[in-house]
Amino acid sequence: MLLYKSIIRKALYKYDPELVHEFVCHLLVKISFLPFLLPILRFFYEQKNPKLERNLFGLTFKNPVGLAAGFDKNAQLIDQMDAFGFGFVEIGTLTPRPQSGNEKPRLFRLEPDEALINRMGFNNEGVEEAIKRLKTRKSKIIVGGNIGKNKMTDNEDATYDYMAAFKQLFDYVDYFVVNVSSPNTPGLRSLQEKEPLLFLLNDLQKLNNKHSKPKPILLKIAPDLTNEQLDDIIEIVASTKIAGIVATNTTIDRSNLKTNQSAIDAIGNGGLSGQPLKQRATEVIKYLSEKSNKAFPIIGVGGIATAEDAIEKLNAGASLVQIYTGFIYEGPAIAKKICQGILANPQ
Ligand code: FNR
Repeated sequence: MLLYKSIIRKALYKYDPELVHEFVCHLLVKISFLPFLLPILRFFYEQKNPKLERNLFGLTFKNPVGLAAGFDKNAQLIDQMDAFGFGFVEIGTLTPRPQSGNEKPRLFRLEPDEALINRMGFNNEGVEEAIKRLKTRKSKIIVGGNIGKNKMTDNEDATYDYMAAFKQLFDYVDYFVVNVSSPNTPGLRSLQEKEPLLFLLNDLQKLNNKHSKPKPILLKIAPDLTNEQLDDIIEIVASTKIAGIVATNTTIDRSNLKTNQSAIDAIGNGGLSGQPLKQRATEVIKYLSEKSNKAFPIIGVGGIATAEDAIEKLNAGASLVQIYTGFIYEGPAIAKKICQGILANPQ
């Protein structure tokens, strides 16, 4: 952690955040052909212990710390993230057709807040490209497929996009996440309203139940929902019988930031992640868990940087956790550190 924060992070932070992300991912893909690289990463970063295993939705997760959606949108880094000690990887958000996303720059660091703002807009190579990679992955790590709609698809036709992505990906992922909570696709979040959500999830479940072994479908929600909307979510989970909730996506809220206002204004629209999201994400998890009487599993995500943060999410009612921004700020040992903390403080 020290080496990362004092040397590597300092060097990387001199450059544009998206460029750094692309460079690091590219490097990881290229050097993974060296036969000794993944075993070395595994040696340094993997925390193996049967006490970390979690059984959920009929799946066995080797540990409860996952890589959140958006980091490996195109399924390029599954084996590498397995070697970095993550217990599961959520690829995507994938849309049926490739799309380039919003104009650059679209990813910003808020260093004083240990946060990021992004308005990527579902830039991804499309489901087909991802499937090619999923076919050649070597590790057996649990992979979730996070699916969304193309920007050009109207909300009335959104179901067709989700169904297309679901059908194509079905044989290649272990669970699905329906993403209706990104703030960066115009109008997407209105799909979180009760009526459209019921239609969408019921249609997906119909498709799912045609299979002899249906896959767990989870719904990823925004942290900006009101308590009334969260009550609707609880009802929707019960009536559509989906497997659970991923809480939460990034927020559009900008309150209580340490970064100065003019810098925040200059960045503009986008979803905020990292430390400033932590408390609200935990509140949403706690509300859903208590109000539903723990009726369904929750994957907790938002502002996790340390084992204490992860344990806070687990105590609030999450069964698994995921990380994105913490990985950028804390470095490659984050999953191992959190696993060690969880082992030291059994729930
Ligand atoms: C994201 N996130 C995200 N979520 C999602 O469901 N689909 C996506 O494509 C993306 N893309 C994405 C890009 C970038 C640059 C960031 C920072 C985040 C949201 C992510 O999965 C997570 O829910 C939030 O970032 C909150 O967790 P952290 O970052 O605070 O750990």
